[in-house]
Amino acid sequence: MSNLNLQTVLSVRHWTDTLFSFTCTRDPSFRFENGQFTMVGLEIDGKPLMRAYSIASANYDEELEFFSIKVPDGPLTSRLQHLKSGDPLLVGRKPTGTLIVDNLLPVLWLLSTDTGLAPFMSVIRDPAAYERYDHIVLAHTCRYVRELAYRDYIMTTLPKHEFLGEQVREQLIYYPTVTREPFSNSGRITDLIDAGTLFSDTGLPPFSPERDRIMLCGSSATLRDTRALLEACGFDEGSQSAPGHYVVERAFVS
Ligand code: A2P
Repeated sequence: MSNLNLQTVLSVRHWTDTLFSFTCTRDPSFRFENGQFTMVGLEIDGKPLMRAYSIASANYDEELEFFSIKVPDGPLTSRLQHLKSGDPLLVGRKPTGTLIVDNLLPVLWLLSTDTGLAPFMSVIRDPAAYERYDHIVLAHTCRYVRELAYRDYIMTTLPKHEFLGEQVREQLIYYPTVTREPFSNSGRITDLIDAGTLFSDTGLPPFSPERDRIMLCGSSATLRDTRALLEACGFDEGSQSAPGHYVVERAFVS
């Protein structure tokens, strides 16, 4: 049992007749990242009977906590549910798992129409933005191709930039779209989000408030409709005083 630590049950709480949680002592050498799981079990007939359990306590807590269902005929939970304070409990020494905050790749979406591109030209040249986000998507929607200003700079010059070039090549996804004449990407940004085209074209998963951060800059109508889409996906608007999942600014026109 060298891969198991013998711990002591400290408390048991029965939430319903099918759900219970329990805490136990924590070996001083047991380290884990929040969100991981480890093996937990009992010694039955001289042999460990173990199952994987997510650790519900935080990694700075002194005790370990687990949350379980009670399976009436389950080999382990039918016994575990009768645990009492002071009982012995086996806990695996090697926690693992993928539900770790650092495993998520945060994405920054910069969604603009017309001159709403301006602040994002600044953001895409900010080294700190590339440190903070795995990908930065710059979407620029205009009526006509000729209005896609800075296109050549973004596509050709910036990727060769002395200091930023490598990050731009690896992390920046430029997504120009046009609404009133044929072009490789066409349609309003709202329709492209709705239809999922923005995600299939960029190869990124659909918006999720856990991972994606969004900046909007453009006409009032575009902001209004995009905002409604984001709110429907569970995004909260941020401000100077309270950061959120997305922020908005009207393009300055006059
Ligand atoms: P469209 O050509 O379909 O109107 P504008 O110059 O009127 O501000 O438009 C700039 C770009 O923003 C155009 O491509 C336009 O598409 C698009 N657009 C205008 N209104 C909206 C809206 N409510 N939602 C999304 N995109 C919009």
